[in-house]
This record gives sequence, C-alpha cells and structure tokens, in this order.
Amino acid sequence: MKKSTNTAINTIFQRRSVGRLSVPGPSEAELITILRAGASAPDHKVTKPFWFTVFEGEAREEFGDVLVNALIDRMKAKGVEPTPAQLGAEKQKLTRAPLVIAVAAKKNPEYSLPDQEIISAGAAAAQNILLAATSYGYGSIWRTGEMAYDPSVKAALGLTEGDYLIGFIYIGSYRDGVAPDPNDPAIDDFVRSW
Ligand SMILES: Cc1cc2nc3c(=O)[nH]c(=O)nc-3n(C[C@H](O)[C@H](O)[C@H](O)COP(=O)(O)O)c2cc1C
Repeated sequence: MKKSTNTAINTIFQRRSVGRLSVPGPSEAELITILRAGASAPDHKVTKPFWFTVFEGEAREEFGDVLVNALIDRMKAKGVEPTPAQLGAEKQKLTRAPLVIAVAAKKNPEYSLPDQEIISAGAAAAQNILLAATSYGYGSIWRTGEMAYDPSVKAALGLTEGDYLIGFIYIGSYRDGVAPDPNDPAIDDFVRSW
C-alpha cells in the first residue's frame, strides 16, 4: 500500500476489527470527542437521528441481564432452553471491552425520510466513532448479532421497534499492545468506470 502522510487516511486504513480489548479504555475527554465524532456524521435533513448509550464498568454486566432475558425469550420462542454457558456468555458480552457504545438511529415522525437514510446516518455515526477511537490509538469492533434486532433490547435502550439499533461499538486497548496490520484492500472487484 502506498504510504500516506495524511492522518485521516492513515486512520481509515488502520481501523480493523479487534474482538477482545483490554483496559485502559478512552479517557472521559476522549470519550466525549468520540461521541461528538459520532454526532457529526452526515444525516439527511439534519434530523440528527443519533442515539448513543455508553456502557463502562459495572453497567456492562448490568446490561447483561437485559441480554440474558432477551436470549431466554428468543430461545423459548424456538422451544429451546439456553444452557448455563450460553447464559453466562450473554451476561458477560459487553465485558469484552472496557467501553461499549450502542449506536442507534431514531425515526423522527415529523420528517418523512426513507428508512435507508436513517440507517445510513446511523451507520455513518458508527463509522465515525470507530475512526475516532482508532485515531486515539484504541482497538474497536462493530458488533450486531440477534440482540441488535431484539425488541426488548431495543426497548431497554429507549428505542421503539421502528428505530434502528445500528450496533454495539466495543472500544479498548490492544491486548498485546500491538495494533493489527492496516487494511490493504484491492478495489478492482468493486469499482468500474461508467
Ligand atoms: C453492520 C456490521 C455488523 C457487524 N457485526 C459483527 C459481529 O456481530 N461480530 C463480529 O465479530 N464482527 C462484526 N462486524 C465486523 C466485521 O466482521 C468486520 O468489519 C469485517 O470482518 C472486516 O474486518 P475489518 O473491520 O477488520 O476490516 C460487523 C460489521 C458491520 C459493518
């Protein structure tokens, strides 16, 4: 990959998904900037559909109870009992990083925007959060899974069924202190000239 001196470009390529992250997480000041980066994403008609929920410390395990109950209900609906291991993993899910930000996009009934545009703005906010975390030297990962579409999880976050839970952004330090290799994508398969 051609080396660039532009720090924004470097950050874009440096962002990689890292599943397990350790302390320390971002400082309070860094967190505020990360959230402001999220809120500065573009959105059609400036409706600011962004809705962020921050989980740090014990809040991560407390929210685990919401995830556990949601998992039990989802599995019950399929006629299956969750195993103790499944319940334990669900309870601990958010502890895979010191900081987790649930990124959502809310519908505003005063504006008739296509759903695609609400989701797009939410996804742009999520990416801005990932990039801001990366620029501060933290690892991160955007996760969804069934919980991101579960009505009871959404309700616990103050969302209605029509709102979009874009994902959970996990942020923390690289466990071995070493960042993964930057992205080095080839574009030939995705690009054509008209
Ligand atoms: C909408 C969305 C949902 C994702 N959900 C998950 C997830 O639930 N679990 C996971 O391990 N990674 C998840 N990822 C991360 C992708 O696996 C990752 O971005 C992809 O493998 C490319 O790797 P990179 O981010 O290092 O470039 C998600 C990414 C996006 C955009």
